[in-house]
Amino acid sequence: MPTDQTTPPASSDVTPQTARALVVPRHGGSDALSVTDREIPAPGPGEVRVQVAASGVNFIDVYQREGVYPIPTPFTLGVEMAGTVEAVGEGVDDVQVGDRVAQAMNLGSHAELAVFAADRLVPVPDDVDLEVAAAAMLQGCTAHFLVTDTFPVGPDTTALVHAAAGGVGQLLVQLIKAQGGTVVATAGSPDKLETARSAVRTT
Ligand SMILES: NC(=O)c1ccc[n+]([C@@H]2O[C@H](COP(=O)([O-])OP(=O)(O)OC[C@H]3O[C@@H](n4cnc5c(N)ncnc54)[C@H](OP(=O)(O)O)[C@@H]3O)[C@@H](O)[C@H]2O)c1
Repeated sequence: MPTDQTTPPASSDVTPQTARALVVPRHGGSDALSVTDREIPAPGPGEVRVQVAASGVNFIDVYQREGVYPIPTPFTLGVEMAGTVEAVGEGVDDVQVGDRVAQAMNLGSHAELAVFAADRLVPVPDDVDLEVAAAAMLQGCTAHFLVTDTFPVGPDTTALVHAAAGGVGQLLVQLIKAQGGTVVATAGSPDKLETARSAVRTT
């Protein structure tokens, strides 16, 4: 049968590539971190490879690096990113090459290229910058479940938000206000309180 040049193979890229990644070779302090050129495999069944545009740094990175959360080493750090799909594996129907995607809580995002299960990705709308999408995923999901599943905030709610100028804090303040609630905020300095106030003004 003649080969159709326009038809991609089951996996649209079977050649391993190398790319830089922030690897934890052994648990320890920040001096344990290593920027490593490593081989990135073609995505397997149900997986996609993403060109990472932005990767979020979170407290959990420290716990994982130190071994408080005991992930077997070596591993690539980072649990939050947004980027563009550059290869898809077999059986992936709802994500395509070129899609802008984001994810949270899947290890390996501090890398130029990363492979994730397709069903762990969410699409990034065209009018949302990839850096904003990456920054909003983990802290955004955290703030969202706190004001919905943990406690359904509404117009009758008054919520005390500590560390309101932090990442989770600023998002919490905005979501509580958006749901009609009242916020009482604390922060470590007058400047930080102003940061929390401006988060509300920009929504
Ligand atoms: N990022 C997530 O998705 C996520 C998920 C689950 C839980 N958490 C937890 O939520 C908390 C806030 O996370 P975040 O991502 O919003 O962090 P962040 O942006 O770095 O904000 C942390 C805030 O905590 C306060 N703080 C108090 N003691 C501190 C210290 N020793 N070092 C640094 N900051 C200190 C600071 O505010 P003040 O100076 O105003 O006190 C700071 O603004 C963390 O405990 C984190 O583990 C985060």
